[in-house]
Amino acid sequence: MGYGRFSLLSGLAFVFLVLHLVHGDVSYSIPEEMKSGSVIGNIAKDLGLDLGSLSARNARIDSEDNNVQYCGINLSTGDLIVQERIDREVLCAKKASCVVKQELVLENPLELHRISIRVQDINDNSPQFKEGSLKLEIQESAAKGAHFLLGEAHDGDIGENAVQGYSLQQNDHFKLNVNTKAGGRKYGELVLDKELDREDKKEMMLLLTAFDGGSPRRSGTVVIHVTVLDANDNVPVFSQSAYKASLPENSPLDTLVITVSATDADDGLNSQITYEFDHVSNENNVFSLHSESGEVRVAGAIDYEKQSSYEMQISAKDGLGLVSYTTLIIEITDINDNAPVIYLKTLTNPIPENVLPGTEVGIINVQDRDSENNRQVRCSIQQNVPFKLVPSIKNYYSLVSTGQLDREVVSDYNITISATDEGSPPLSSSKSVQLSVADINDNPPVFEEQSYSAYVTENNKPGSTLCSVAARDPDWRQNGTVIYSVLAGEVNGAPVSSYVSVNGDTGVIHAVRSFDYEQLRSFKVHVMARDNGSPPLSSNVTVSVFISDVNDNSPQILYPGPEGNSFMTELVPKAAHGGSLVSKVIAVDADSGQNAWLSYQIVKSTDPGLFSIGVHSGEIRTQRDISESDSIKQNLVVSVKDNGQPSLSATCSMYLLISDNLAEVPELKDMSYDEKNSKLTSYLIIALVSVSTFFLTFIIIILGVRFCRRRKPRLLFDGAVAIPSAYLPPNYADVDGTGTLRSTYNYDAYLTTGSRTSDFKFVSSYNDNTLPADQTLRKSPTDFADVFGGCDSSPEVGTHFISLKSISTR
Ligand SMILES: *[C@@H]1O[C@H](CO)[C@@H](O)[C@H](O)[C@H]1NC(C)=O
Ligand SMILES: *[C@@H]1O[C@H](CO)[C@@H](O)[C@H](O)[C@H]1NC(C)=O
Ligand SMILES: *[C@@H]1O[C@H](CO)[C@@H](O)[C@H](O)[C@H]1NC(C)=O
Repeated sequence: MGYGRFSLLSGLAFVFLVLHLVHGDVSYSIPEEMKSGSVIGNIAKDLGLDLGSLSARNARIDSEDNNVQYCGINLSTGDLIVQERIDREVLCAKKASCVVKQELVLENPLELHRISIRVQDINDNSPQFKEGSLKLEIQESAAKGAHFLLGEAHDGDIGENAVQGYSLQQNDHFKLNVNTKAGGRKYGELVLDKELDREDKKEMMLLLTAFDGGSPRRSGTVVIHVTVLDANDNVPVFSQSAYKASLPENSPLDTLVITVSATDADDGLNSQITYEFDHVSNENNVFSLHSESGEVRVAGAIDYEKQSSYEMQISAKDGLGLVSYTTLIIEITDINDNAPVIYLKTLTNPIPENVLPGTEVGIINVQDRDSENNRQVRCSIQQNVPFKLVPSIKNYYSLVSTGQLDREVVSDYNITISATDEGSPPLSSSKSVQLSVADINDNPPVFEEQSYSAYVTENNKPGSTLCSVAARDPDWRQNGTVIYSVLAGEVNGAPVSSYVSVNGDTGVIHAVRSFDYEQLRSFKVHVMARDNGSPPLSSNVTVSVFISDVNDNSPQILYPGPEGNSFMTELVPKAAHGGSLVSKVIAVDADSGQNAWLSYQIVKSTDPGLFSIGVHSGEIRTQRDISESDSIKQNLVVSVKDNGQPSLSATCSMYLLISDNLAEVPELKDMSYDEKNSKLTSYLIIALVSVSTFFLTFIIIILGVRFCRRRKPRLLFDGAVAIPSAYLPPNYADVDGTGTLRSTYNYDAYLTTGSRTSDFKFVSSYNDNTLPADQTLRKSPTDFADVFGGCDSSPEVGTHFISLKSISTR
């Protein structure tokens, strides 16, 4: 409606403007799109035609070229009216002036008037974009100020009614720039006002409005679809700026350690990330990195002790090569995989056996390559050795002796040092230390026996072996090498070395000389065993040498005296009955034992049936009563034989007178001498005195024995009787240089006695000159006192006695 009124008014104004221009021809100006039937103008009036003739003359409107007949004529009014729709845009498109040519035809006469209808544009078209939407792809990397041409909008209208401008919906990134083309057409371009970020906004819808200049103005819109194209403007970003992982050492190959991951905000290829080690930092190739998954795995041996942490740079690279880095720190945790190692730093080997307890013998160092508890090491040694470990600074230990060492008991020690760490499970190791104990000369040689006795028969060959001694010394080598020697001393006033010698190496004792039992029955030597140490140690032992008797002495007849020397006669009473004791042969033998076991035998007699002799007593008895017919002078030859092998013998002659009175035998007086008689008398006196002295002594002995028994139950007097040595020939007594006997000898002299009841009797000294009797007598009591006063002391205390074991005649 509004539109119609507008066209009409403007049309009318136009009509009146152009009227006067037409002569013969008329022209009108009308707006387009007038309604069919709308009056363009009164053509009859304008042409001065008679209304009535119009119909008569068959007036009609023709179009040139038989085009569309836009107009018609109202024959009654003469008005030119719009018959067809007049659309300027169809007729003239963009032509600036649009004229529709119509002809008015009158017949009769034929009259032709040209009608020019100028069609005025009205704003009946809105600007229009070719596409429903504009698609625009813009690199996000596009710089600020970049232009993006937009498609034009079209408007069928022209002039003011055509597109006059564009406007863009408010947005963050773009502004609109409107330009005019050479033909006056307007177009718009997007100007990037603020950089795009695909990662922020990857698509935008912008509404572009094109508007014309008509009134009212018309507009058309299009949506600009902006797609932000990815530019590789984002570096990959790791999820952590640094990764930390912890991994136990000795982890098997392919163990997953950690997964690193980076994201790239970009798109497509630009976000395809490849992980890589920065080669410099993964020098050992201990770890592998999966280039796509980012998994870090174990690829080599992980040894905490070699490297306890790894720091690696990992790069993430996207498709077009933007790289970022992260740091991966892998801390290796310790596993107790190293046993402690024991080092022997110093060792005194060998150690002298005399080291004091507490002496440091060695220094031990223990190391464990693990860490923390795994490297805490405890050290110990076995219990059964005299050593201990004393912890010292840090991991050092001193090996210290705890007791006295004795090489002779244990010469080598196997010390096992064990070290255990405190890991879980703990590891341990051990080390054996050989320790030798060096010898110190601390043992003297020790003889195998307390004392040695050697028995040798007299008359031995010089150099013969007596016995051997042996001493042991457990020390080492020369400290244990034993050398034997005889200690200096004297035997019978001569140096002991003239009696025996010892082989220094073997300990075999040799006799140096031949021994005489009758001179020396036994003696003692001291043999020393000395080792070769420095200083040497020694010990000594007593070797008693006992010389045994050989029957090398013939019996010696004391009574009667030797033939020719003392011619003695025994008186036999005529009234003597058979079995009466007539006389007695007294003999001694320097030998002993069987060798001195004497037997008596009458080998020759005047009257063999008259006298007999006791085989062992030597007593001569009558066998029968004496008769008158018996010869007064009887002569006996007695043989005394010892019991040795072979036996030795002696003979003597005995003269017997069967008479009651010596005077009856005058011829005998010739035989005996006064001198001799007086001598014999003095012997008898001496013998008597001796007997009394002895008796006295015996009493003292008995008292002494009693006295001693009270103090000491045992007495060494065993049925033997001591008599002074003076009563025997000096060679019978074994007297050393000092005149004392070294030891008690059982000097067995077999004597005959004149009495059956008495078990012993003294033998009178047959030789006055060798020892004065008074000296002996004077001496004896003191010696007795010595004996019995010191009877609790050794029986070896020197005496002047010889014990005489008496043998009963029966
Ligand atoms: C010490 O130990 C070693 C090895 O264990 C062994 O060969 C040696 O015989 C031992 N020695 C002693 C004295 O035990
Ligand atoms: C013997 O003992 C001495 C110390 O008394 C010592 O010095 C020496 O080494 C020992 N000899 C041997 C062979 O062991
Ligand atoms: C012999 O040994 C004894 C102890 O056994 C000792 O008292 C004495 O002095 C030693 N004699 C010598 C000469 O070594």
